[in-house]
Amino acid sequence: MRARCQSGGLGHNMGSSVMDLQQEILFSLEKDGVVISNEFGESIKESHQKIVGAIKSLESLGNVVNVKQNALKTWECTEEGTGVATEGSHEARLFNSLPPEGRSVADIKDNFPNSNFALGAAMKNKWLKKEGEKVVPAMTSIEDQVQKYLQAITAGAADSVPDNVKVEYKKRKLIREVEMTVFEVTKGNEFTTSIVKQEGELTKEMIESGQWKKTTFKPFNFKSKGRVDQRSGYLHPLMQLRSEFRQIFLEMGFSEMPTNNFVESAFWNFDALFQPQQHPARDAHDTFYVAEPGKTINVPEDYLQKVKKTHSVGGYGSIGYQYDWSRDEAHKNLLRTHTTAVSARMLYKLAQDGFQPVKFFSIDRVFRNETLDATHLAEFNQIEGVVADYNLSIKNLMGLIKGFFEKIGITKLRFKPAYNPYTEPSMEIFSYHEGLQKWVEVGNSGMFRPEMLRPMGIPENVTVAAWGLSLERPAMIMYGINNIRELVGPRVKMELILDNPVCTIDK
Ligand code: PHE
Repeated sequence: MRARCQSGGLGHNMGSSVMDLQQEILFSLEKDGVVISNEFGESIKESHQKIVGAIKSLESLGNVVNVKQNALKTWECTEEGTGVATEGSHEARLFNSLPPEGRSVADIKDNFPNSNFALGAAMKNKWLKKEGEKVVPAMTSIEDQVQKYLQAITAGAADSVPDNVKVEYKKRKLIREVEMTVFEVTKGNEFTTSIVKQEGELTKEMIESGQWKKTTFKPFNFKSKGRVDQRSGYLHPLMQLRSEFRQIFLEMGFSEMPTNNFVESAFWNFDALFQPQQHPARDAHDTFYVAEPGKTINVPEDYLQKVKKTHSVGGYGSIGYQYDWSRDEAHKNLLRTHTTAVSARMLYKLAQDGFQPVKFFSIDRVFRNETLDATHLAEFNQIEGVVADYNLSIKNLMGLIKGFFEKIGITKLRFKPAYNPYTEPSMEIFSYHEGLQKWVEVGNSGMFRPEMLRPMGIPENVTVAAWGLSLERPAMIMYGINNIRELVGPRVKMELILDNPVCTIDK
């Protein structure tokens, strides 16, 4: 062993690595033909756990070694037993503490730990004798057999301790019986003492240099336990609220409109909604126009003609706006400024397919060329509800809105007359905010104008009630956020996402 340690540089007392241990086990196997894990550990003064680890690694190499497991009953010291193994037995400690002239029994009883036992055992061993009220040493030196036996047990040499002694020590709660798994290692078919280090990972460098072809890799350990602290996915609070709103619409029998086009033509975003081409919202200061492709490819021509006519000369009881409508302006591409563009497309399609009453909703992103501040970004999510049916009135619209807001826990509502180019009448929706103690605007609504619906081909006795609100406004209120940047973008705090409650809307 010594010689090998020197030649191989395998110093086990300096904290052997698993690799060194594997090597040592192989050398030992070569010499003796068998290695028993616990005995090997004792011989090189290494913990059994480490030896077992090294054996398992050798086993994973394939057929280098054969491994057999045996259950072994053995003994270990209790806490008290370990104390005796290191400091000596109680009786020996008493003997060693006595001055040559002895000590009074009363003093020992008062001051020596475990004095009764220590006195009894020391007298029985004839280490001490009584002289009146005192005990004095009866020998010049003693041999502490109890300590020696317990040291043997600590060292794993329980076999060297007589069985009757073990029974007695067990009674005295100095030792206890334990079962351990012992590994018996023998040479395998492909036994060798020169093992190659197995790589645990395939790296970029190995692939680039071609080194991977010559590398031996560790086999997958399918029995290993996965990480326990693994986090699962979390919804962003905004997306969470979005899915809750979606659920509310679905519960109310609405179906979702396809909102998967952020780029829209001015035609569907504005013209179809009877928004005149000179309207300030169409200005590049308010709307993002797309440079490439700058123009839409096509718009249904007969419908376009009807929209053009309604804007320029009127129709359906309206005189229109009386201006020269430009096809060029209508064909410009832009980032949609509201999801009402999608509602327009859907209502047009509905008229083409043959009208029937519908309830539609959408929740998706819209873009506005706004000055950014604490509560505004250049994009936000818009929630939109559209109900088309025969002879709907503004009372139906107000009822729908009340029903919708009640579902999100907002019961105090007020309506304020407003203006939208595409609705008449139009109403802003206000709700009383308990926290802020004031009425805050939460949405906009109205009945779509005949100038919008008739050119599409929606029947004359059909009216359409619609409303829209931003997703961010209620989200900020519900999460108690004052700055939009804490909700959207790179400055969102991870805690907001990780601590996000399962349910945001307090119904
Ligand atoms: N499109 C409006 C907005 O962007 C919301 C709205 C939708 C108003 C439907 C009336 C009807 O604010």
